[in-house]
Amino acid sequence: MAVLVTGATGMFGARVTEILARSGVEVLAMTRSPDRAEKLTRGTVTGVVADLDDPSSLSAVMERAERMFLVSPMHADLGRREVTAIKAAAAHRLTHVVKLYGAVRHEGDQLDTQHQLSIDALRESGVTWTLVSPQTVMETNLFGQIEGIRQARRMYGSAGDGRIGMVALDDGAEVAAHALQSEPKAWSERNLEITGPAALTYAEIAAELSKGFGCEISYVDMLEDDFAAMLIENGVPAVDLDLLILCHFRQMRAGNASLVNDTFQSVMGRPATSVREWAKAHRDKFGFSDD
Ligand SMILES: NC(=O)c1ccc[n+]([C@@H]2O[C@H](COP(=O)([O-])OP(=O)(O)OC[C@H]3O[C@@H](n4cnc5c(N)ncnc54)[C@H](OP(=O)(O)O)[C@@H]3O)[C@@H](O)[C@H]2O)c1
Repeated sequence: MAVLVTGATGMFGARVTEILARSGVEVLAMTRSPDRAEKLTRGTVTGVVADLDDPSSLSAVMERAERMFLVSPMHADLGRREVTAIKAAAAHRLTHVVKLYGAVRHEGDQLDTQHQLSIDALRESGVTWTLVSPQTVMETNLFGQIEGIRQARRMYGSAGDGRIGMVALDDGAEVAAHALQSEPKAWSERNLEITGPAALTYAEIAAELSKGFGCEISYVDMLEDDFAAMLIENGVPAVDLDLLILCHFRQMRAGNASLVNDTFQSVMGRPATSVREWAKAHRDKFGFSDD
């Protein structure tokens, strides 16, 4: 059984590739770059070159695949790119497509509109499909705070008092890898929303990080315009600001990222990772050594 993983050099695709490879699954790890494809090739993983912006490049990789993990970057073309992949998967009669979605209620914003195009295509495709939908992940939210924490023991945002069921990347990736190795019908047409164990405000997340790091971290809540100006000053391109950062803080502030459930526990048989556990496991990345 070969699993095609799109976005295999990205955050989710790389983790799903690693987890599948650890289980001995044959993986076709997709990238647009021949150099990166070569670097991905190891053990049961074969790097393959294709581009979701070039439908003709997909035939050769789809011919070798039975299943697909579908992930593409948060981008204004996400819908079009993923529809291209879904059409190719249907044409090549793949047996299961697991699409990465999300558990934050984006309520018709740009990101949600793009994901809905992809989900509609799955429903119409005739292919067996499953959505794996992590809450907003700790890696995206908290690695983005590394500089502020290292330099001033502070993190910044515009999440207000919104509660967030933030989840570890690995927990979402483990569920995706599990679904890809299950009988396709087992999770057919399910939306597996994967959350952390608790819904915390950003200030409470800072308190949990403090306990995990053994060092006081505070959260500075900002007005969205001031936060945006700070991000631009720190080099975030204006064109990426809304889709990559602000639209997520807006949803967190509105309470639309507060879902907490036990799906991870029921699929994987163990509790989801807490912010404190995650902080302990990533202390070194934030400049805290163990001695
Ligand atoms: N971050 C979160 O908190 C969170 C939570 C839940 C869901 N999500 C969802 O996660 C998804 C983003 O995943 P990610 O963060 O893993 O993405 P990512 O790190 O941005 O990586 C995606 C990869 O896609 C490849 N790519 C870019 N353009 C491409 C194209 N035209 N054709 C084929 N491949 C292309 C790139 O690899 P190459 O350059 O090597 O080709 C890139 O490494 C979005 O759907 C988002 O809604 C995110």
